Amino acid sequence: MLNRPTLTQFIIESQGHHADATGDFTGLLNDVATACKAIASAVARGALADVLGSAGSGNIQGEEQKKLDVIANTTMIAANEWRGHLAAMASEEMEHILPTHQRGRYLLVFDPLDGSSNTDINMTLGTIFSVLRTPDNGRDPVADDFFQPGTRQICAGYALYGPSTMLVLTTGQGVNGFTLDRNLGEFFLTHPDMVIPADTSEFAINMSNERFWYPPVQRYVAECRAGRTGPRGRDFNMRWIASMVAEVHRILNRGGVFMYPRDLKDPAKPGRLRLLYEANPMAFIVEQAGGMAITGEARMLDVKPTSLHQRVPVILGSTNEVQRIADYHREAPVMAA
Ligand code: F6P
Repeated sequence: MLNRPTLTQFIIESQGHHADATGDFTGLLNDVATACKAIASAVARGALADVLGSAGSGNIQGEEQKKLDVIANTTMIAANEWRGHLAAMASEEMEHILPTHQRGRYLLVFDPLDGSSNTDINMTLGTIFSVLRTPDNGRDPVADDFFQPGTRQICAGYALYGPSTMLVLTTGQGVNGFTLDRNLGEFFLTHPDMVIPADTSEFAINMSNERFWYPPVQRYVAECRAGRTGPRGRDFNMRWIASMVAEVHRILNRGGVFMYPRDLKDPAKPGRLRLLYEANPMAFIVEQAGGMAITGEARMLDVKPTSLHQRVPVILGSTNEVQRIADYHREAPVMAA
């Protein structure tokens, strides 16, 4: 075990490649990793620690907050707010940004507990995070500072709370996965240089929304389902875990396509997933692993955010399949946004 680098060693070694590094970013990643360990511990104790069920409140998206959503959010804030690396944080669970007590060089945006409909049934959950630079303008942080396209992320990652806890990370030089040794309390590098196979015969989508999808996605999924006798000439498999972290993790390990596309279910929502703390960090990770991430019509990382809790359609995974879906969008008649 000890012949593998720990996450801390890995980050320090990577810092050594940047002559101008101050240790600030290394400190920030360590704080985020510590928060993820604490959240993993709360998730793992589950019913024994009375952390399951509703918190009796709702978030800004009008979704019911689970007790674990609130615990995970509080944990991430506590691990970061006094450490001096951040100027502000933004989270799925907070309507507004949270300026920190010092004017640090970075902004942290996170979904503290992704897939929270899985909390009460002891299924896979995750934490997603993304790091941006604080604009160098000398003023107090405002929400606008977070409205940077995904290409400007300097780091993105997720923790996966499954049979084992993992932390998967990119700083723009590939993707590396670390597994938590609970006895030692350390993440160890177990999945170096993760690469998504370009081809796949597996897709993930909530099929119950099929009638609301736009035609290009209906076409793609219909062709997959037609299998060997259809236009694709081979059988496809389908998975749906209802936790984006779990779906992306599977895709990083064996390929696949994940879709939460634009649909007509609620015309006020152009998608289900949130750009800043779900779609962008995952798109950065997927691209760094050689995959592709789009809204349908556009590259995800090029979308210019306009609000903190903005929703977007998401299609990501194995390049050749995502490219095919992008082509289907291009060939389809233009649809109203
Ligand atoms: O809110 C995000 C999320 O929980 C994702 O992690 C997941 O992919 C999706 O929502 C599940 O959606 P549905 O409830 O439609 O299956």
